[in-house]
Amino acid sequence: MKTITVYFGGQNPETSTMTQVAKAVSEVCGADLFEIKPVYPYSTNMKECTDRANKEKDENARPEVMGPMPILDDYSTMILGMPNWCGSAPMIVLSFLDAYYQSGALKNIRIVPYIINDGAGPQECVKDLERTYPDLTIDEGSSFIANKYDTAVPLAIEWIAQVM
Ligand SMILES: Cc1cc2nc3c(=O)[nH]c(=O)nc-3n(C[C@H](O)[C@H](O)[C@H](O)COP(=O)(O)O)c2cc1C
Repeated sequence: MKTITVYFGGQNPETSTMTQVAKAVSEVCGADLFEIKPVYPYSTNMKECTDRANKEKDENARPEVMGPMPILDDYSTMILGMPNWCGSAPMIVLSFLDAYYQSGALKNIRIVPYIINDGAGPQECVKDLERTYPDLTIDEGSSFIANKYDTAVPLAIEWIAQVM
């Protein structure tokens, strides 16, 4: 069985710490890589993005993910990367998981989350997943401070080698 790294790159997916970490941990694990791309991209303006993130959270929204979506049948492990947005998991990560949850496609998959943040740690991100999908197997995971403040990539490589 194989491992897939699924990540949401945030506001600037081409350059984000999230994308760098996702690529690095995938290489270490020999995992496939899937980026959760929003159909309607998030603004690079911090206030606009925060307003939208908060609105989506308040409305328990499921913003649309750009297809094609991966088929998960061959995977036993999913490394799942997301930025901490306003203390919680970005709703588009739940959109991705929802696409598989009802059919039971995630039932036998170990989910290994990691959170990129600006210093607040994971806050409610992993708990949001646990609350929304109480019957899934979700590791405690880890969190890394974005590269502009710290060295997220080497720390993430060290972490994934330990937990996999
Ligand atoms: C809408 C929004 C909300 C955010 N909220 C938080 C937060 O509550 N706590 C935190 O530590 N970082 C927060 N951040 C910072 C993100 O986690 C940030 O995207 C992360 O540090 C990755 O940056 P980079 O991938 O662009 O390098 C937020 C960023 C955005 C865009």
